[in-house]
Formats: sequence, structure tokens, C-alpha cells
Amino acid sequence: MSRVTLSLLLTAAGVVVAQAPTFICNPPLFSLQFDYPSGIPQQVEPQAQGRGPQSGYNVCNSTTQNQDSMCQTALVNHIDDFCLWAPPTGPTSIGDSEADEVAWCTQNKYGTRLIPEGTITGIQLLQAPTYNMIFAFVDQTKLNMFANDTGGELDPRGADLCGNPLGGLLFSNNLPLSGNKDNSTYTQVGDWTQFIGNGIACMKWCDPKDPDAANYCYNQLDRVGIDYVCPQNAQNGTFEVCESDPMQFPGVYVTNGVTTSYTQPPESLGPITTMPYSASIPASSNCVTYQSSDLFAALPTISGAATSGASSGSGSGAPAAATGKPSSGASASGSRTGSASAAPTGGSAQPGGAGALRASAFATVASVVFAVAFFA
Ligand SMILES: *[C@@H]1O[C@H](CO)[C@@H](O)[C@H](O)[C@H]1NC(C)=O
Ligand SMILES: *[C@@H]1O[C@H](CO)[C@@H](O)[C@H](O)[C@H]1NC(C)=O
Ligand SMILES: *[C@@H]1O[C@H](CO)[C@@H](O)[C@H](O)[C@H]1NC(C)=O
Ligand SMILES: *[C@@H]1O[C@H](CO)[C@@H](O)[C@H](O)[C@H]1NC(C)=O
Repeated sequence: MSRVTLSLLLTAAGVVVAQAPTFICNPPLFSLQFDYPSGIPQQVEPQAQGRGPQSGYNVCNSTTQNQDSMCQTALVNHIDDFCLWAPPTGPTSIGDSEADEVAWCTQNKYGTRLIPEGTITGIQLLQAPTYNMIFAFVDQTKLNMFANDTGGELDPRGADLCGNPLGGLLFSNNLPLSGNKDNSTYTQVGDWTQFIGNGIACMKWCDPKDPDAANYCYNQLDRVGIDYVCPQNAQNGTFEVCESDPMQFPGVYVTNGVTTSYTQPPESLGPITTMPYSASIPASSNCVTYQSSDLFAALPTISGAATSGASSGSGSGAPAAATGKPSSGASASGSRTGSASAAPTGGSAQPGGAGALRASAFATVASVVFAVAFFA
């Protein structure tokens, strides 16, 4: 009861906060199609409008293969061959850097940064009939993130449909329906989602040949978090690839035989403190386990970043080129799927359902104070 009252109270307060983006990418980033690597433009979002231009570039090659790379073209293939989006400079939070993330990869052949050795302490690749999902335990301080960052979601949409990161492209040679099975064809993935924060990361990429790709890679649950978008039973310390049954679409659940869709409430309604359901973990099978040293052999070759156990993993010291571009108002709007909401509270887009709800409880207190102050 009091929760409802609180929400109503916050509705009025929230009106002040929510803003529509002033610039929308048209066509939206997720709909742009390029051939990899020959058809990719230098920058997919070069326009200096809205939050643009993008901070990095999309043409990445051996000259950009270093720890200052600003490559924003990522590959997601296998358990030993994938990239994650993370900040170009730091330490910082995902909320403050979501527009600018760059690709950090496990292989040194895509013109990107390498994920520093020791970053990944456990990983599970779930191969479902129409999508793949990597869930990893990460030392996020090696990826330019604050140790305490609860993180957020990165995806090809955002309120302005320019993506977070802006202009970020994703390709894969491992899709269940598209391409062949010899790793030689790269298919652009228009529907994907990544969460990173709280020491965990999830990257899900959905086969464009699946009519339900946008449903499995649904991008509108950024504040609900990783447990609902990436349900899995990954173990820290285990490195494995499994076959997986398809998950329920994120946000869809069945109670007493009735299928219901959950919609994340607008941010103006305040923190999400309860959920009407728990996401069920799809059955997985035929798991094959690996040693981390067998998977990530390329990583120790990083100079600098691989050796320091300390924060700020960007390796070779020199600050990366084009960052620090202020995110504009677009990233502060209620419906964007990134995590700029993190700004006021230090993290309202937490991955990790439990963590999210726990942190939200604290945020609720802050919100009450805010609401009272607002109405005082
Ligand atoms: C390599 O990448 C850089 C940075 O994007 C680009 O300027 C350059 O043209 C690329 N070189 C080739 C041969 O494609
Ligand atoms: C594709 O790459 C993965 C590792 O990234 C490897 O395990 C697999 O054997 C490769 N497949 C083929 C057909 O070469
Ligand atoms: C995973 O394990 C490592 C030690 O191997 C630990 O430092 C880290 O905190 C663990 N991560 C999580 C999210 O529990
Ligand atoms: C997270 O850590 C940073 C750096 O230590 C600190 O400045 C910031 O206040 C912390 N944020 C929270 C929410 O504790």
C-alpha cells in the first residue's frame, strides 16, 4: 500500500526528471546493415547531433589493435573468442560512460583492446536454438570500471536509437541459424544486449534469422537487471559451454497457465523494489568445461594491463583518444535502455536482480527524501 502511495508521489516528482531525446537516429542503429569487414564505414554515427558523434570508429584493423583502441565494432563468437563493451578510460561507471564504450576482446585479431589477463574468473556460454549467451564473472576494475559500479545495460537502441555505445556494431561467426559452421562468415547482429557491473557480465546475441530475435534480446529491462534478462546457473571458477533450452522471453512469465508480460515502469515512478515473478533458468545440457589458460592464451600478451592487478585496466597508460564527450540530455530520459539513470544515485541500473532490488531499497529511502524535499 505504502509502496503504491510512494509511486504516485514520485510520479509527480519524476515529471521533472524525464526528458525526451532531442535527436533520434533515423534510421535506428539496430536496423543498419553492413558487411564485415569490407562494408563498414569509418564511423556509423559521425553526425554531431544529439549525443553524437560516436567517440570511436568502426573500421578496426592491425593499426588499431592496442590497449588505447577506440574500436566500436565487436565480435561475439565462441567462449574463447568474444568481446565485451567497457569504458575507454576510467575508472568510471557504466552510467557515466555508456555512450562511449569500446570493444575489449579475447582475441588479438579484431583491431580492439584485449581483455586483460585475469579479468574473467568464470564463464558460461549457453547455446540456445536461436541465440547465444555468455555470462562471465569479471574483475571489472581491469576494464576501467569502479569496483563498486553496479553497472547497467548496453544495447543497440537507447532512447535516441543511436545505441549504447553510440555507433556500436556487433558481428558473429557463431549463430544457430545464420552463416555456416566453419567460423568463416560474419553476420551482423542487430539484436543484442550486454549487462556489466557488480562483478558480472552478460552478452546475449540473437540470430537475425529468428523472427523472435528482438524478443529474446529485449532491451527494455535495464533497471530490472541481469537475473531477468540473462537467467543462468554459471559458476565463478568454472569455464564451460553448454547447450541450452530457450529461455522465456525477458519480461514474459506464466502464472497458473496465464502468460503475462511485465513492462518496466518508467523511471519517474521511482526505484523498482518488487517484481511480480522470478525468471526461470532454462535447462542446459552437454556442458563441456575448459581451463581458463586453454581459452585465453592471447591475453597475457597485453603489455601493461595484463600484469597490474590494480584498477584502471586500460593498459598502456596513455589516455585513449576521443573520450570525455559530454553525454547530452538524451541519455537522461526515462525510457533509454542504458544506465544514465545511474547518475543521480550512483547506480539505478543494476545488473543482478537481487542486487538490484537490494540497492533499490536504499534508493527508495533517498527517493522519499527527494520527494519530500520536492514537495516541501
Ligand atoms: C585501419 O583502421 C584505421 C582506423 O579506423 C583506418 O583509419 C584505416 O583506414 C584502416 N586501414 C585500412 C587499410 O583499412
Ligand atoms: C570455430 O572457432 C572455435 C573457437 O573459437 C573452435 O573451437 C572451433 O573448432 C572452430 N570451428 C571450426 C569449424 O574451425
Ligand atoms: C569470483 O571469484 C573471484 C576469485 O576467483 C573473486 O575475486 C570474485 O569476487 C568472484 N566474483 C563474484 C561476483 O563473486
Ligand atoms: C564508488 O567508488 C568511487 C571511487 O572509489 C567513489 O568515488 C564513489 O563515491 C563510489 N560510489 C558509491 C556509490 O559508493
